Amino acid sequence: MIESEIERRWWKEAVVYQIYPRSFNDTDGDGVGDLPGIVEKVDYLDDLGIDVVWLNPVYESPNADNGYDVSDYRAIMDEFGGMADWEELSKALHERDMRLIMDLVVNHTSDEHEWFVRSREDDPEYGEFYWWREGVDSGGVEWTSEEGPDGEAPPNGWQSIFGGPAWAYDETREAWYLHLFDRKQPDLHWRNPAVREAIYEMMEWWLEKGVDGFRLDAIAHLGKAEGLPTDLDEPMNGTMKHAGNDPRVHEYLTEMNERVLSRELLTVGEVGTSTVPDEDAHAYLDPERDGLSMLVHFEHVNIDREDSIYEPGEWTLPELKSVLDRWDGLTEEEGWVAQYLSNHDQPRQVSRFGSETYRRESAKLLGTLLHTLRGTPFVYQGEELGMTNYPWTSLSEFEDVATRNPVERAIERGDVESFEEVREAVAAESRDNGRTPVQWTDGENAGFTDGEPWIGINPDKETVNAAAAREDPDSVWHYYRELISLRSDDEVGDLVVYGEYEQLTPEHESLWIYTRTFEGERLLVALNFSDGRTTIDLPTDAVDAGVTADLLLANYAIEGAVTAVGDLADLVLRPWEARVYHVDAE
Ligand code: NOJ
Repeated sequence: MIESEIERRWWKEAVVYQIYPRSFNDTDGDGVGDLPGIVEKVDYLDDLGIDVVWLNPVYESPNADNGYDVSDYRAIMDEFGGMADWEELSKALHERDMRLIMDLVVNHTSDEHEWFVRSREDDPEYGEFYWWREGVDSGGVEWTSEEGPDGEAPPNGWQSIFGGPAWAYDETREAWYLHLFDRKQPDLHWRNPAVREAIYEMMEWWLEKGVDGFRLDAIAHLGKAEGLPTDLDEPMNGTMKHAGNDPRVHEYLTEMNERVLSRELLTVGEVGTSTVPDEDAHAYLDPERDGLSMLVHFEHVNIDREDSIYEPGEWTLPELKSVLDRWDGLTEEEGWVAQYLSNHDQPRQVSRFGSETYRRESAKLLGTLLHTLRGTPFVYQGEELGMTNYPWTSLSEFEDVATRNPVERAIERGDVESFEEVREAVAAESRDNGRTPVQWTDGENAGFTDGEPWIGINPDKETVNAAAAREDPDSVWHYYRELISLRSDDEVGDLVVYGEYEQLTPEHESLWIYTRTFEGERLLVALNFSDGRTTIDLPTDAVDAGVTADLLLANYAIEGAVTAVGDLADLVLRPWEARVYHVDAE
């Protein structure tokens, strides 16, 4: 790839740090993190070297889904502080040259949002802001939910992503409304131009307040197929097929792009369908169409997912490679991806894709992967410390609707006898793993709060915490600092950001070796995804064997930082060893 072919963008060169405010840092002792808590840690973020903060929803919300049920887009949730605190945070970040993007939750609102309150009263202005439908004759079939008038079943068979029917009956309007997520998250009716106008106005309002972009929540679901067809042969009775990547979503986003987004913003679209067809990926990312900067897809984090949270799943390295390789190919000419393995909806990456036995090594290896693939690396709070999954022992310890709902329903239905029967799978998969508080110290409540934390704190805070990590030069934290600094490095920055990616070991069960090439320079990355030793199996024609290889970064101490590429051919990599070499490509 040559200089003239690359499209430089500030957000390609950036590292994004994701903050889930509820679990970040509490300053008022209510056990819930808050905005002043983030302000207190702005220097910590600056030291780490990140460029952008993505803030999970902080809007006013009754918290049925931790802020993803917004009741007022222009106000801050009391638990998190007020607008003045938000302004202070924005100022503190911008003063340190960091940017701020907000979560834009516009597939749905809370049922406590004024729009919904007026919609359920059939107010002429808001009556069509949501998906209202009459129920259907249940044909004598006993409907699984006790909801709605006798003999009536919901308008179609769609299932909620959080389990159960995707419709709830409203006594005031005497009709059913659609909710793809929780019943307290009614879906907005995007076909109604008044809905779209109201959203664009709200986005403008935030842009005027100085935000640098948005992470667009659940964006694949904005469009719903004509007639809302049920499809009993499809998973969730066709919900995802007919309310996931429906072509209308691209009409709406193209309009949003023209109206609001066509300026130098970072826009990250969350496309949570199990697969994203090529043509949709291109439409989302095409500057002339939807124009999003990058996508957060779920294809790699779905590789070990079964239909329900209580079914154990497995993954293999060749699968992981094939999904991420596909996305590299999809965005080779145009578009970009967010590189992540964990966030507030996923378990901790060390426990899932790494090894708790080799926690430190595997945390570093996974970081190496995310920061040396093509795409923008997203660091989820606590990832830079190598935080792990929580040791869950009972269902009552979980706070997440998407964990509790399906398990409680399965127990009610008799599909599962008790939580104990499915504990292992649920504990491994729950979103709450990513939501336990950041461990700042080994002290009480890990230094997160002086009060009672809203969710359990991982007992491994004794060893895994920010204070200890910053003291220890060999910690995951220090390694992350190095990784983060690569993108702005004078010598290798362009190579790391823009270099062409080539996979060298697609089928190998535990090795992932790849190159990145840019203007006659090359990175060679070798990763051993295993608790055992693995001999490097470097295809001899892949890189010129005589060329010098300078070790740029490694997660083990290595004697002799310079070697010839040929000498790497039969090198033994230790458990979770990661090496990045800088080689001449010519
Ligand atoms: C995706 C968000 O990341 C998740 O936390 C939320 O529950 C759903 N969208 C619904 O807004």
